[in-house]
Amino acid sequence: MKKLNKVKKVKKVISSTPAKQLGELVKLVENMHEYNVLSHNISKTAQLYDLIVTEATDIMDTRIGSLMLFNRARCKLEIVASRGLSREVVKITSLKPGEGIAGKVFESGRSIFCEDIEKDTRFKKESRIKYYSKSFVSVPLKVNGRIIGVLNVNNRKSRKPFTVEALNILNVIADEAAMIIENRHLLRSLENAYVDTIATLAKALDERMPATKGHSSRVADLSYRLARRLGFREDRLHSIRNAALIHDIGKISIPDEILLKPAALSASERKIIQKHPEKGSGVISKSDYFKDFLPIIAFHHEWYNGKGYPLGLKGSQIPLSARIVSVCDAWDAMISKRPYREPLSKRDAVKEILRFAGSQFDPRVVKEFLKMSRR
Ligand SMILES: [Fe+2]
Repeated sequence: MKKLNKVKKVKKVISSTPAKQLGELVKLVENMHEYNVLSHNISKTAQLYDLIVTEATDIMDTRIGSLMLFNRARCKLEIVASRGLSREVVKITSLKPGEGIAGKVFESGRSIFCEDIEKDTRFKKESRIKYYSKSFVSVPLKVNGRIIGVLNVNNRKSRKPFTVEALNILNVIADEAAMIIENRHLLRSLENAYVDTIATLAKALDERMPATKGHSSRVADLSYRLARRLGFREDRLHSIRNAALIHDIGKISIPDEILLKPAALSASERKIIQKHPEKGSGVISKSDYFKDFLPIIAFHHEWYNGKGYPLGLKGSQIPLSARIVSVCDAWDAMISKRPYREPLSKRDAVKEILRFAGSQFDPRVVKEFLKMSRR
């Protein structure tokens, strides 16, 4: 979360003079924009929730803030991110709709803004937490009229009460947060649907080639682990795993008599087989989501020395993800049994991989692969 430090804090939400107010509002909008940009670069949902609370507490200048989302399975509002609250409070706090301040906000869909909790008769039973500022703001997170959670802030650092303007600002932050959370949720659902599609494609490929059953998923697992060791970020790792899972998808269109031939292939048959990266890329390039998979599907048979196919790319011209899959693909093929040959021992497979380091394979990838396979 180092990136968060880049966002300049707005010290006060509301100033005394109109000129100051205008200047601070401009800063406020700039800050919100920066947070919005940051939110797009965050791959982990928990970090996104943290960012929302950080934004709310920074901009509202409070010591305490929490984001609560409604858990449909438990029918309760739960804290998914907070600032200034102990782990214990976060763990035990869950509210039914209508229960407590946040529960009321969730149920009614209306913000609750309190200038002095001790004088406000609505909250006498609920002032277990010490609100030294005495005031707080709690606003609903709405998506298309549906309420998905509540954003709370209290204990301003200045110890001054919140103003109506502050309530409006938190409402803007909550609207933005609700939209970001919903978009993330939709994106995840879409990704899950795509992953299901990929799994179905991989299974179809496995069923067509029973002799190499499980090859794609083993290559996918190896490639994921190797890519992680080589420094790929989490979101790219998932893409690499999924692409590796269907790296040979172009083989689906190859005739059975060639694809399933239980013997070595002739030169002309080999040429047909060698069309599979292009055929696979042709299918994949039709979908925006699968476009990320293209480097692996198109280039996993390129050689580091430029003597591979389909384009004869060389060295760093070959995407690193494809160089990774290339090693994992060859390794699994060597140590697996084929109808026309016995599997190589791991020791002999290591020798082969080393023999082709610098020609077929990227030596840096081979080095890391061998370190990984020794563990
Ligand atoms: Fe292949």
